[in-house]
Amino acid sequence: MEGGLCPPIRQMFWWTQPTPLEAHSMTQASDFGPKFPQLRMRRLRQHAALRELVRETEISVRDLILPLFVRPGSNARQPIASMPGHDQLSADLLTDEAKAIVELGIPAVILFGIPAWKDLTGSAALRDDGVVQQAIRKIKSAAPDLLVVTDLCYCEYTDHGHCGVLIDRGGRSDVDNDATLELLAQQAVSHAKAGADVIAPSGMMDGMVAAIRRALDAARFDHTPILSYAAKYASAFYGPFREAAESAPQFGDRASYQMDPANAREALREVALDLAEGADLIMVKPALSYLDVICRVKQAHPEVPLCAYNVSGEYSMVKAAAANGWLDERRTTLEVLTSIKRAGADMIITYSAKDVAQWLA
Ligand code: PBG
Repeated sequence: MEGGLCPPIRQMFWWTQPTPLEAHSMTQASDFGPKFPQLRMRRLRQHAALRELVRETEISVRDLILPLFVRPGSNARQPIASMPGHDQLSADLLTDEAKAIVELGIPAVILFGIPAWKDLTGSAALRDDGVVQQAIRKIKSAAPDLLVVTDLCYCEYTDHGHCGVLIDRGGRSDVDNDATLELLAQQAVSHAKAGADVIAPSGMMDGMVAAIRRALDAARFDHTPILSYAAKYASAFYGPFREAAESAPQFGDRASYQMDPANAREALREVALDLAEGADLIMVKPALSYLDVICRVKQAHPEVPLCAYNVSGEYSMVKAAAANGWLDERRTTLEVLTSIKRAGADMIITYSAKDVAQWLA
């Protein structure tokens, strides 16, 4: 797409590029068709059934992926204060949890681990008996049909809270891109061995998709897809997640690897690179402040399934406002998710998945 504006949604589909006449009529509708009083847009809004017939976007629980936080121990359930309705759970509790999720019709979960200990290189991430590895096995045996996606990153596992191993750049500490790639490759294989269905790298390292693909293929996991957090922004909306996953950086921020919220064209380069490296699925994150990015990525790559991450801060804002009686939680949440899908997302990672399943049941 050229220019800075997001063109009409029908241009998303390459086989229906508008003719010049159509393009003109989209901006000058009244020059070509009837206009008021012959044309009355409200006619199609008179009847609920008619509104349903002309509805362009529908949100379904089958579009949703539910995040879960796994902690060490047994029979441990630790509520996450900033995310009402979400707890850190020990792996043993996931047997019942997974069955309940399937019962609700939610097709997939994405796992985040809070390890028993953290160190400089995040070595707990690579253990076969690690929190996420155990959680995958529990879920797979309890609910084999539930798709298990694993978030692949080091921020939960390093004591400094950054998304990889550190390097000194003349007095400034930074994440060492290429050294981290090797660790991500090992982490991916470890998750796949435990039974993960989809690997989702979220660290925004250059070359991460290619490195993970190579490692998975070499370990005979050529059938395991990669969902790349391709356009992930350095966002304030991750605040509640960092409490939930105990993964806040201990110094500095993530601006040297996550994207600048001011940039949209750069997202198209990130996505194109990850696709060239072999990503099967692409993600934009966060979702609500980045609907333009979702729209543009969909337009640039209509043939690639696109995921959007409706992140923790987006969830907590609605929960907090609803708790104060300032917003109708159900209507707001459904409107948020519908807008993300309308922008072009095919699937949405959302903390609201269970609520939505109950509302739409
Ligand atoms: C990184 C990761 C983060 C989120 C998902 N994966 C946090 C970060 O980048 O700091 C945030 C998700 C959310 O806010 O819901 N492993």
